[in-house]
Order: sequence, then C-alpha cells, then structure tokens
Amino acid sequence: MMDSDPTALADIHSHLVPAVDDGARSLDDTLASVELMKERGIRKILTTPHLDGTLTLDRTRLEERLAEVDEAFERAAAAVGRRFPDVEFRRGHEVMLDDPDVDLSDPRVRLAGTRFVLIEWPRLHLPPGTSQVLRRIDDEGFASIVAHPERYVGMDLHVAGAWRDAGAYLQVNYGSLVGRYGRDARRFALALMRRGWADYLASDYHGRPDRDLYHAEAWDSLEALDGDDALAQMCLTNPARVFRDEEPLPVPPLPPERGFWAKVKGILRQEFT
Ligand SMILES: [Fe+2]
Repeated sequence: MMDSDPTALADIHSHLVPAVDDGARSLDDTLASVELMKERGIRKILTTPHLDGTLTLDRTRLEERLAEVDEAFERAAAAVGRRFPDVEFRRGHEVMLDDPDVDLSDPRVRLAGTRFVLIEWPRLHLPPGTSQVLRRIDDEGFASIVAHPERYVGMDLHVAGAWRDAGAYLQVNYGSLVGRYGRDARRFALALMRRGWADYLASDYHGRPDRDLYHAEAWDSLEALDGDDALAQMCLTNPARVFRDEEPLPVPPLPPERGFWAKVKGILRQEFT
C-alpha cells in the first residue's frame, strides 16, 4: 500500500464496481480500468457507484442496494488487491439528489465512510434551492463534493459561488478540460480554476475499454496553462485528503487567460527555442 507515497495520484470519482451501474460490467473491466489508472500514476482509487438519493429514505430498499454493491465491491477489491497490491481501492457512492431530503447518515453512502459525500442532481439540470440543500447537508455535519458542476445546463459562477458559500466543494472531470462534454463545460471548468474554486479533479471513469480516461490530455492542457501547482493540489493533495477525512487545501488559481498576442508570442517562443 502506497498510502504515504507523496507522488501517488488519487481519484475520488469513478464507476468501477462490476455490474452495479453504467460503469464496469465485469471484473475484467474493473481490473483493466485499475491498470489504466495505475499507468497514469493513480494509485489511490475511491470508486463511486451511482445511488439514487430516494433509496436513502427507504431503509429496506437501501439495505438491499448496499448489500448488492458491497458484495460486488468486496469481490472486486480482493481481485484488485491481488493483482495491484500497491493500489489502494476504496468505495463510496455518487448520490443523486432526486429528493432534496436525502438521508446521508449511513456511512456506506459516503466516501469510504468519511464525512464527505459525492453528490449530483438528476439529468444535469438544477432544481430550485440547490444551495439550501447543500447548506442543510453541511449543517448536518457532512461535507458535499459536487460532481462535475461544469456539466450542468445553465450553470454559472454565481451558483458555484453560492454552493461554496454553503460549504460545498467542487469536483471537475478530466474529460471536461479536453472538450469531452462540449465547449461550454470546458470554458466553465477553466473559469472555476481561474478562481481556485475547483477543489478536485477526477476521472468519472466508467470502467469500459471503449471509454477514455482523458487523464493525459487534461494534464497536458493544464500544464500548458501554467497550472502545475493547481494540478498537484487537485489531483494529488486534495483527493488524498478525502481518504483521511480531511478538508481540501486551497487551490492556487490558474493564471488569467492570455490575450491573443500573448498567445501568439508564446507559440513563437516554443517554436524557436
Ligand atoms: Fe459519475
């Protein structure tokens, strides 16, 4: 276990538990995914199967679902442990807030039993009152991490600021930085980073061989924007802190967007040096 390795990247959002959601379909998918992530230097994986928040309001159905996920996870974790002994493999959930009153008191719903919970709203549309929901979760002693805020329809910095004021943290997807979800998502992801508002970068990897991790491309694109310090904080320090139930540290903002002539000069400098 490389828990103390300061260079081990960590990832807190993926769908690698076999056959429980739209991610990995089999143990082979899980193992291939972990291998891919390990090749990119990710050695701490907190995987997050989808969970409908309404289930948390029905004890019987929640127990059934958690038993199903836990059994599949335990089998996968044993295989991952045998094949990749230097990878830490833990489980959380990505909780869909299809009911604003979700009950997050069961630690199995949260990220590796910590106070952190990865949340999303249904169908990438925001219902009214999102900040109040996040505030309530914070008041109950839990810490929300909003998955891929850049992907929501009609998202803006005002809303993102209100979420942060309500005590939530923000997690951007690697794929967003390389245009996987369109130009608006990319632009908004960068706008968050220029304010230092993206606490985590994660793969949201859906564990199938035909899916791309987008890790290398996203990494390159941020390095080209002089975002090395932000990368270290979003991909290494802060996600590793979730495993230890610790709040993220502030992320240095990306440098401001360069104007047209500055970009041309940068390109010329690269060409002729
Ligand atoms: Fe996800």
